[in-house]
Amino acid sequence: MHEIIEQLDEKREQARLGGGRARIDAQHAKGKLTARERIELLLDEGSFEEWDMFKEHRCTDFGMDKSSVPGDGVVTGYGTINGRVAFVFSQDFTVFGGSLSEAHAEKICKIMDHAMTIGAPVIGLNDSGGARIQEGVASLGGYAEVFQRNVMASGVIPQISVIMGPCAGGAVYSPAMTDFIFMVKDSSYMFVTGPEVVKTVTHEEVTAEELGGALTHSTKSGVSDLTFENDVDALMMVRRMFNYLPSNNRDKPPTRYTPDIADRMDESLDTLVPDDSNKAYDMKELILKIADDGDFFELQPMHAQNIIIGFARMEGRPVGIVANQPLVLAGCLDIKSSIKAARFVRFCDAFNIPLLTFVDVPGFMPGTAQEYGGIIKHGAKLLYAYAECTVPKVTVITRKAYGGAYDVMSSKHLRGDVNFAWPSAEIAVMGPKGAVEIIFRKDIDDAAKTALRTEEYRRKFANPFIAGQRGYIDDVIMPHETRKRVCRSLAMLQGKKLDNPWRKHGNIPL
Ligand code: COA
Repeated sequence: MHEIIEQLDEKREQARLGGGRARIDAQHAKGKLTARERIELLLDEGSFEEWDMFKEHRCTDFGMDKSSVPGDGVVTGYGTINGRVAFVFSQDFTVFGGSLSEAHAEKICKIMDHAMTIGAPVIGLNDSGGARIQEGVASLGGYAEVFQRNVMASGVIPQISVIMGPCAGGAVYSPAMTDFIFMVKDSSYMFVTGPEVVKTVTHEEVTAEELGGALTHSTKSGVSDLTFENDVDALMMVRRMFNYLPSNNRDKPPTRYTPDIADRMDESLDTLVPDDSNKAYDMKELILKIADDGDFFELQPMHAQNIIIGFARMEGRPVGIVANQPLVLAGCLDIKSSIKAARFVRFCDAFNIPLLTFVDVPGFMPGTAQEYGGIIKHGAKLLYAYAECTVPKVTVITRKAYGGAYDVMSSKHLRGDVNFAWPSAEIAVMGPKGAVEIIFRKDIDDAAKTALRTEEYRRKFANPFIAGQRGYIDDVIMPHETRKRVCRSLAMLQGKKLDNPWRKHGNIPL
């Protein structure tokens, strides 16, 4: 017995050392934490239960029979985050470069299967050289087993990926199918094919950082939802985001006490929208002023900035916020912003998080780049997402709600539950100037006539009352009382029950 205990201690010690002291030092020298250090920071202190610490690969080719490390390059198990269970895998770059073997994949699949049966989120900390080259197809099979589980878990339990090192080739597709991707600046990158292959095939010369670094993915591609300076920041923010999410699709998101009273008024909002309707203002100011404690967890803040998405709380209950941003492209909807918001709306819908939408949208972005890029299909994604979603939907039109974009942005017609407008709202097919130039085209050279008609159009349509007459908006509210009215609406909607017709799945325009 004594001998076995000694053996156990020895094996644990060996597993904890991963690829050995030198490789751990090399990891630290790159500014990266080890797989276990990351888990310790992510989970509540002392809560981690590790599984499969002794699991090893079964490969015998290329000298692998003489080279084995307990745990096989990934640390797996579960623990708690602020008291709620989360399953975790953390790839250990010090062991075979964190590469994914058949055994490594089995460990990940095991925690995913458990997470699904008990209904708890999975958080993956990725730091891997990709498929274990010595294993060949066995490792590819391992990836596919993980992918299949990612898809089955999608919309059932939240899945979060943190990219904390290399993530290339097939390895990118597991994170890609999870709900959120966080990246760490300078130490992480993601691409389907690396700079060498790119050079050979397209003759482009790019560095790994330019091709798939955190900055690239948080600005250009939108693959990364958030980017952080270092491992510690990234893990702390996963903990923070976790608090907005339910454990699974049958749970409600956790509520949190707030001293911020629901009927707090904010007079400064009455002057947020400028008198000149072509002048921009910062929609984030509104979000920060109405959310509990001025706290907003923004996602993709540097990508498609003409739309804002993120989590906040109203009276302690999490909401997903979607808002046009007049500061960027006048808040127009384009391909990137439609995709960004559509996926967020669908996440919130899948996980019972009510949606709060702020609208100031002059329409869809015109131009060949947009049309050739398929704005018709991509814009339809957002329309589809809002239309199919069954969680409570509260909408506030602060200014422009023009054309098809009016319909798309959680309008009454798409089963919006409570639709408010500020007195500054302009709900029309298009702006007065554009409208007059079309309907009175023959008089376009008569400046006086055009000005008169523009004013007439503005008076008639650039207000919230026509929509109000038809019941398309439920009330015109004063900006300063927005928080109170939204909180009341969300409280009223807590018991909302709405089902879509049975179907295998819809066919969202992809
Ligand atoms: N399979 C097996 N072992 C791997 C591996 C893989 N896919 N990727 C890395 N390793 C091993 C390396 O052989 C090295 O082992 P060693 O310390 O015993 O020499 C160790 O992991 C660290 O890798 P190293 O190349 O020294 O680290 P790096 O930081 O300089 O580079 C990568 C990291 C990921 C860029 C580089 O390892 C790489 O290109 N790996 C292969 C990527 C790939 O093509 N994967 C398969 C397709 S998905």
